[in-house]
Amino acid sequence: MDSIEIQGGRPLVGEIAVSGAKNAALPLMAACLLTDEALRLERVPRLADIATLSSLLKGLGVQIGEEAGEKGQRTLLLDAKEITSTQASYDLVRKMRASVLVLGPLLARCGHAEVSLPGGCAIGTRPVDLHLRGLEALGAEIELEEGYIKARAPKGLKGGEYVFPKVSVGATENILMAAALAEGTTRLVGAACEPEIVDLAHCLAAMGAKIEGIGHSELTITGVPRLTGATHRVVSDRIEAGTFLMAAGITGGDLTLCGAEPEHLSTVIELLRQAGMRIEETNAGLRARPANGRLHGADAMTEPFPGFPTDLQAQFMALMTTAEGASMITETIFENRFMHVPELMRMGAHITVHGGSALVRGQKTLKGAPVMATDLRASVSLVLAGLAAEGKTLVNRVYHLDRGYERVEEKLAACGASIRRVAGE
Ligand code: UD1
Repeated sequence: MDSIEIQGGRPLVGEIAVSGAKNAALPLMAACLLTDEALRLERVPRLADIATLSSLLKGLGVQIGEEAGEKGQRTLLLDAKEITSTQASYDLVRKMRASVLVLGPLLARCGHAEVSLPGGCAIGTRPVDLHLRGLEALGAEIELEEGYIKARAPKGLKGGEYVFPKVSVGATENILMAAALAEGTTRLVGAACEPEIVDLAHCLAAMGAKIEGIGHSELTITGVPRLTGATHRVVSDRIEAGTFLMAAGITGGDLTLCGAEPEHLSTVIELLRQAGMRIEETNAGLRARPANGRLHGADAMTEPFPGFPTDLQAQFMALMTTAEGASMITETIFENRFMHVPELMRMGAHITVHGGSALVRGQKTLKGAPVMATDLRASVSLVLAGLAAEGKTLVNRVYHLDRGYERVEEKLAACGASIRRVAGE
């Protein structure tokens, strides 16, 4: 298994191009199942999770082609003219929970689908009950058998109303895609409003779907009998951009993130300013650096969009470990998302966890150490800590990083980081 080796203590200075968002690209790829015409997606990041979903889609009969896009970006052509299987196996769903996003589209297009239940993961139990209840509201018959979700809609899906008891990004996406082809009107109340959902809704609209309320928590979808192909450019990755904003802060550097969307990061930007960073909108995107000297503690609580994203919680905690004073970081989305805490403490951080909150007492320096990541965002938080720490940090289990950060060591090295990948046995 590969590791990442970092010699810390160098300020990062320069420009970084933000990639297309993984969390937008995944549902967009699943949306190809809704039409027998080709869907062309531009700026799809080269990531392990994208490769996993590509394998799954190929297994369902989707033909996938690749083209070089502008500035080294990648365009995927997904053609689901013929769906040859409606089963997503445990092997693939287990690797990546977002595989469950094929459920709604397969059911809507083919009238049946079998998708393995994803099971728990490192950051929590993560059930898919809301995905299932929402599809049932559209008339699906769902049974759980032998670890599989077996869904049927023999006479097709029918528009219905579903009120989400809790905000769920994935469930909103699954039900939205299914509703696009259901007969009649669907009303979704309490839907997630993340920019990745807005991106999906725009792509569906380009494919001929009729959706009102895009960007709001109440969506009205008037089903159409068929959708067509379309060309769509994946929204830029706000989590990657947010991670690099914090890289500028923790190293005392000066980074410009080209292609970052400020309005997708407003809560994050506000919080980082509160912590003493100077963040400016430029023609290219966002420029970030410490306003003057050391940052100071600031409190964060994760919430659905437009709140502070859970996917930046670990990175923000890394940033706060070297700030002056204390900060309280509260996680409200996932029940077990503090696995980075003991690893950061191995690097000398002072953190105390009480239930869903972590109290971070900032101090001047961290010390490099061998550390291990248990999930994607935790692993990048350790990279951030390593960039700031004195001496050498070795981040193990780097495959987590490859799931969500495109060429991360290349991007950081180009801005002055001493970082390299060490091939494992
Ligand atoms: C997506 C993101 C992930 C991010 C998360 C929250 C993708 C591919 N992944 O994950 O990076 O951290 O949003 O912003 O886009 N829940 C239920 N029942 C369900 C579904 C969810 O109880 O049927 C719970 C979850 O356990 C969690 C909360 O709802 O506590 C939010 O989860 P959700 O928004 O669904 O996250 P994902 O879509 O899995």
